[in-house]
Amino acid sequence: MNIIMFGPPGAGKGTQSHLLEERWGLKQLATGDILRKVADEDSDFGRKIKEIMSSGQFVSDELMVEMIGNKIDELDSNRGFILDGFPRTEKQAEALDIMLLKKDKKIDFVFEIKVDEKILVERITGRYFCASCNTNYHTIFNKPKVSGVCDNCGATDFKTRSDDTVDVIKKRLKAYHDLTMPILPYYRNKNLLVSVDGMANVNEVTKEIESYLSKEGLTYKAVSV
Ligand code: AP5
Repeated sequence: MNIIMFGPPGAGKGTQSHLLEERWGLKQLATGDILRKVADEDSDFGRKIKEIMSSGQFVSDELMVEMIGNKIDELDSNRGFILDGFPRTEKQAEALDIMLLKKDKKIDFVFEIKVDEKILVERITGRYFCASCNTNYHTIFNKPKVSGVCDNCGATDFKTRSDDTVDVIKKRLKAYHDLTMPILPYYRNKNLLVSVDGMANVNEVTKEIESYLSKEGLTYKAVSV
């Protein structure tokens, strides 16, 4: 089972992908996370990536396609993957299809997480992460069960993202409208697109997505992760 998680910045792609990875054993391939690791490197390439991300622009299609192809090749389980943040342009979507065909794989679902735009800035500016395992929280909507302690790994250090400022969020949203939303008809025409209500709470959104996975016969918690 291979999934694309689609939606604007702050829609909940990362939150849902992380939960599905834990619960269903699908591997989350989050291009933003992969790029942030590169951006942290002390190299010219790392600095270039950091500059692009801090400006809210997109990294080149060629680089992204090569990067995601390598990640798919490195997967050590055939359980499937979740693409979180990829594809983001029509070029990336077309290149993904060609690449998957060569690897004898296919996409089963494209989940579009639909949210009202006015909530996105609030969601992103309130977001923080466990510094150890990267689990995603929100100061109001998605708090850890015990304040200051990560539910997933028990760590007590947290971090935020440098591109989560109001100015950069506006640029990321513009890039989403201009370059990413035009992909939707591509997947609608392939009958792969499923829209889910991203305004519901995190658990409700997961339930809605899981209702589609169950129909495909994938077994909940069939693997230990
Ligand atoms: P990336 O890291 O992918 O950022 P993004 O797409 O802007 O999306 P976000 O991670 O901000 O949001 P999300 O939808 O994952 O929301 P989340 O689950 O965190 O990309 C960053 C940058 O990398 C790009 O700008 C670009 O430069 C580059 N890049 C990446 N991929 C690329 C590509 N393919 N091509 C070119 N460049 C690329 O949720 C947000 C908050 O809301 C959290 O605090 C969460 O707890 C909370 N929340 C989640 N769901 C709910 C809910 N249902 N109710 C209430 N709160 C919720």
